[in-house]
Amino acid sequence: MNDQALQPPDPAADATTHGAVNTNTRKVFVKTYGCQMNVYDSARMTDALAADGYSETTVLEDADLVLLNTCHIREKAAEKVYSELGRLRDMKKAKNAEGREFVIGVTGCVAQAEGKEILRRAPAVDLVVGPQTYHRLPQVLRDVREGRKAVETDYSLEDKFEHLPSPEKAVTKSRGPTAFLTVQEGCDKFCTFCVVPYTRGSEVSRPLAQIVDEAKKLAGAGVRELTLLGQNVNAWHGTDADGNAIGLGELIAAIAEIDGLDRLRYTTSHPRDMDDRLIAAHATQSKLMPYLHLPVQSGSDRILKAMNRKHTAADYLALVRRIRAVNPELALSGDFIVGFPGETDEDFEDTMRLIEEVGYAQAFSFKYSPRPGTPGADLPDHVPEEMKSERLDRLQTLLFKQQRDFARACVGKTIDLLLEKEGRMEGQLVGRSPWLQPVIIDAKTTKSGDKLKIGDIIKVRITEAGPNSLFAEVAES
Ligand code: 5AD
Ligand code: SF4
Repeated sequence: MNDQALQPPDPAADATTHGAVNTNTRKVFVKTYGCQMNVYDSARMTDALAADGYSETTVLEDADLVLLNTCHIREKAAEKVYSELGRLRDMKKAKNAEGREFVIGVTGCVAQAEGKEILRRAPAVDLVVGPQTYHRLPQVLRDVREGRKAVETDYSLEDKFEHLPSPEKAVTKSRGPTAFLTVQEGCDKFCTFCVVPYTRGSEVSRPLAQIVDEAKKLAGAGVRELTLLGQNVNAWHGTDADGNAIGLGELIAAIAEIDGLDRLRYTTSHPRDMDDRLIAAHATQSKLMPYLHLPVQSGSDRILKAMNRKHTAADYLALVRRIRAVNPELALSGDFIVGFPGETDEDFEDTMRLIEEVGYAQAFSFKYSPRPGTPGADLPDHVPEEMKSERLDRLQTLLFKQQRDFARACVGKTIDLLLEKEGRMEGQLVGRSPWLQPVIIDAKTTKSGDKLKIGDIIKVRITEAGPNSLFAEVAES
């Protein structure tokens, strides 16, 4: 996976909440940590709970049920959850003293990894549900109300997606014109630094018909851009109606036929699973956005081997050349780890050279931190913290420069922009460029501005590149 990271957790936005408030029913507050798959899971959990009479709230004080949908990829992830649980315990005491219900649940990858330990260390918690069992939440809540705490962390044999209410019932305008759709979960790659194979389990692909059905429902609810998610999304495999084996390239072609969906993306991919048909889709599928998150982690073959990445730096570079040959417009993003055990100055310079050679439009980079239970944690020659920091600094300086250069090269281009939400300033509307950069327009300044609305796809000309976003004006026709 790839990298659990679908897109890696954004450190600036430590956690997100989502939801719309409603009236007399019980209310659930969901706090989502980590990657896009957790964002998707949170939405599906609230769908499941909506069918059971819960409405969402974004105000913690109003909630009868709070779910922490946790991420385990970063260092001290579990400790951060325990400290959040300490705060919630105090709130629970106060609410219970007023005679009000306040159920606390932990879901997601920390729930999977810690299991019963959570109830031992944080007795105020009522339920612990792993990522493969959240379709059982309504039943678990009934158990809790009858006084039984519940821990559900089995890798379920049943297909949770079959047991969840269909999304169009719950997809409201508040979910906007973009959506995630999980097509694949889990990972069998076992990179030696990564917890994902242990928290999300082994690779499973959802069947074609189930995915197409969900995509149609999302399109029917107004979604125009769909991001297909998987820890190892390009390992997706299935069969078509005639029983032929197909891969992600064919899945994208099937989804591209759905009316109303205009833009498709997928994340996260492993270099080993980029097959010819998927690469070809970047030339033939006009709805597929020219952007690919393709983590490499290191540019040193020695370190790649120790990481069990199953590819060399040369394999990766050759792959990048093949993808760019079919679509020269395509922008790449990546994930990097510095200071993996045994990484020498020379290994690190190899990574810097690979970055120079590829040229990334966007990247996520991390200092290696050992995860208990992963093989990397037991390797000798851990790199001192200061050395990791120095390397990360140099690497990020180079990556930020590439990102800025890429953004500057966008100035003057006319692009299609899907308006996703209102901006921070009055009159601003925000969307994403084909290359996933946020693009801000000032609708007031255009003749057609007052008619623009969220969900429109419009032509804009990029006028300026800021540090994190692009600015654009409507290209009047
Ligand atoms: N230490 C540092 N970075 C890690 N990642 C995953 N596990 C670790 C770890 N133990 C990074 C990888 C991955 C991204 C989601 O997080 O770069 O692609
Ligand atoms: Fe990605 Fe490797 Fe982790 Fe699998 S084990 S999720 S391929 S980083």
